[in-house]
Amino acid sequence: MMGLEELCPCCVLPNVAIAFILGSYCISISAGGVLNFLHRNFIHPDGTVAWFLKWLHRIVCGFLLLFGLVLLLLANQPELRAGLFSSVCTRFISRDPALLPLRCQLAQQAMGRTMELGPGPGTNFKCWNNGKHKMTEWIGIEPNQNFAEAITAAKQEHRLASLPTKLVWRKGEELDIEAGSIDTVIGVHVLCSVDDMRQVLQEVERVLKPGGKFLFLEHVLDPDQKSWRGLVQKAIAPIFYILGNGCKFHHTGQELEIWAGRYGLDLQLEHVAAPIPLWPMKPHVSGSATKPQK
Ligand SMILES: C[S@@+](CC[C@H](N)C(=O)[O-])C[C@H]1O[C@@H](n2cnc3c(N)ncnc32)[C@H](O)[C@@H]1O
Repeated sequence: MMGLEELCPCCVLPNVAIAFILGSYCISISAGGVLNFLHRNFIHPDGTVAWFLKWLHRIVCGFLLLFGLVLLLLANQPELRAGLFSSVCTRFISRDPALLPLRCQLAQQAMGRTMELGPGPGTNFKCWNNGKHKMTEWIGIEPNQNFAEAITAAKQEHRLASLPTKLVWRKGEELDIEAGSIDTVIGVHVLCSVDDMRQVLQEVERVLKPGGKFLFLEHVLDPDQKSWRGLVQKAIAPIFYILGNGCKFHHTGQELEIWAGRYGLDLQLEHVAAPIPLWPMKPHVSGSATKPQK
């Protein structure tokens, strides 16, 4: 599967930031030209309107330049990007209650030996609060070690001390888990972030027991390619990739269908408009894929 940088060489991260800064500079020069034209022909140069437009121009251009510099810094510093993302995810994204009903409807189906892909700050622990679960063991597969403290805190906060838990600091593409040993694999907003979705799905199928389930809830590229939302998703993708520490918009539903078809899994997939405030992230797929009994 191609990565963003192979699909679009201009999307190599520092280039995105430089393109943003150059774009902002061009906008700033053009807006300055328009303002001069207005002053000479329509607006009194010492009036309130001229003063307001001058300051609006300065503030917007200053903001764009600052944002571009932040992008440039994050694009060049993967450690900083991972640290900042974990902190934003822990403090804000994981506390947003809007997705909780959909998330918990899925997470509460987890049973037996459960492996969670990309648990982040342990957001799903809320759904299993105070022993409300059917899991016998939880294994978290998380490459970003900045989440360590938040996961421990979430386990305590949601009184899950009696649940045996283990964190493995690695990527879902390279699991060191025995084949056919897991009852449930769960992933919420993870397939968007992995480097190679097909490799991760292949690993999921390998570790599942016969009859085991993969539970997923993922934000996706709008299935209607010509929709406004699809266009916006494509336009913001390079910036989203930097700010979301590798987050992308994919045709995840199609990838899941191809994967399930190849390995004979029983796929139950639903397209849902998630009730979250970020409009470009609303299209989701949710459901399960069950590995056939031998
Ligand atoms: C958007 S966050 C979602 C966190 C959490 N699941 C939630 O719903 O709040 C994506 C998570 O996937 C993790 N991740 C990124 N690449 C991964 C990979 N290759 N394998 C497993 N997890 C990965 C990130 O570190 C992050 O914790």
